[in-house]
Amino acid sequence: MTQSKPIWLHVCDVGAIPRLGTRVLAHPSGDIALFRSESDTVFALRDKCPHKGGALSQGIVHGEKVTCPLHAWNIDLTTGEACAPDVGCAERFAVRIDAGEVYVSLDEAIGTAASAATAAA
Ligand code: FES
Repeated sequence: MTQSKPIWLHVCDVGAIPRLGTRVLAHPSGDIALFRSESDTVFALRDKCPHKGGALSQGIVHGEKVTCPLHAWNIDLTTGEACAPDVGCAERFAVRIDAGEVYVSLDEAIGTAASAATAAA
């Protein structure tokens, strides 16, 4: 059995995502929200809250979480999981930063370790 290599889609320069802000990657499968933490880690989640589909890209980023703008659920950016007591999960995408450029893998079923990347200082 052969394992397919991930296909990395170039998105933007890290600087194009504001710290504690977001950028949306439009994709035929649905928008993907990229979040940049204060420590310059970039995360990518489907731009759809697991509660009722609110646009997570319109939420408030704090630490490694985003608060959904519709009903204030907190979503863990490292896992895509809603924080207790809420339950649900936003789809995650692997992120890679190479020479200050952000790439997202659209492959499914990623591991937590590959779901974020931090820009070199
Ligand atoms: S749609 Fe996000 S908290 Fe309700």
